[in-house]
Amino acid sequence: MPAMLILGIESSCDETGLALYDAQAGRLLAHALHSQIVLHRDYGGVVPELASRDHIRRTVPLLRQVLSDAGRSLGEVDAVAYTQGPGLAGALLVGAAFAEGLAAALGRPVIPVHHLEGHLLSPLLSSRPPAFPFIALLVSGGHSQLMFVAGVGQYRLLGETLDDAAGEAFDKTAQLLGLPYPGGPALSALAERGRPDVCRFPRPMLHSGNLDFSFSGLKTAALTHIREIGEPGEQQRADIARAFQDAIVEVLVEKSLRAVEQSGLGRLVVAGGVGANRELRRRLDERTGKAGVSVFYPEFEFCTDNGAMIALAGALRCAADISRKPAGAFAVRPRWPLDDC
Ligand code: KG4
Ligand code: ZN
Repeated sequence: MPAMLILGIESSCDETGLALYDAQAGRLLAHALHSQIVLHRDYGGVVPELASRDHIRRTVPLLRQVLSDAGRSLGEVDAVAYTQGPGLAGALLVGAAFAEGLAAALGRPVIPVHHLEGHLLSPLLSSRPPAFPFIALLVSGGHSQLMFVAGVGQYRLLGETLDDAAGEAFDKTAQLLGLPYPGGPALSALAERGRPDVCRFPRPMLHSGNLDFSFSGLKTAALTHIREIGEPGEQQRADIARAFQDAIVEVLVEKSLRAVEQSGLGRLVVAGGVGANRELRRRLDERTGKAGVSVFYPEFEFCTDNGAMIALAGALRCAADISRKPAGAFAVRPRWPLDDC
């Protein structure tokens, strides 16, 4: 019998997320998140050891919270899904050890989940879910990929970044502009006050003839520009943020549309932290509208890391009868290509 109540646990980076998903009803019952942004802010990025220790502190209280919010007891959990990778090894080990231990104690199966599969399937939690197959643009802090998604567990890589991920480029450029970590949301807020085309950055690999990306040059373009100015004032910083965001968004939008066109599919899914970027969504809506392509996004709260997407991926893998295993020996996979899961 397929598992009904799935507990999802996310701990791959700097967010501890837990969620309960009712697979029979196809409904998220509860989810809870603790973000470590404040913990890492002084360091300008994630400190792995601090992240692991904080995941340990947060997991049990968050589990209690989701059980209470859903009005369920621990004994009712039918399977435990957790992020097995990719991510920070120590942070992943916290979620994996917790999930395996809990499942062993309950005598329930575990479902190891690929973090990017969680992101990729997260739009299925929205009120307007996409149907398979679709093209997915996955843009997070660690990855930028275009995937052909035939169904649950059926992913083919079409193109990816050759250097920095889109989120990483946002974060590094934001740091150059003196913005706090994580830089993506801060840079995009600053860009709103920037004037269009006051400075213009290159569109890397826009005409490369393939679906790969390269974003590290954008950060260098921003650095060069800042050095030329010396000490940029408030308006100049906003103009730089705007130029950076316009460049990265144009490349992401054009390459996504090219992937959709080449596939002959009329559906595009956008997922991962950068998918929360409002300018990216605005430009995508505009371009897909003209091209007659349907575009699907996760709810804003499920763009960045969360437990709900892991519970959902676990439920869908369970229903498809893939990768469910008895609790027991386990290993995390800090590096793990999505087309190998
Ligand atoms: O998916 P995610 O939460 O974590 C990873 O799996 O990496 O993505 C985090 C990334 C960070 O680089 C963050 O700066 C970026 O997503 N991000 C954004 C926005 N919100 C988060 N980038 C641009 N605009 C945003 N609004
Ligand atoms: Zn993520």
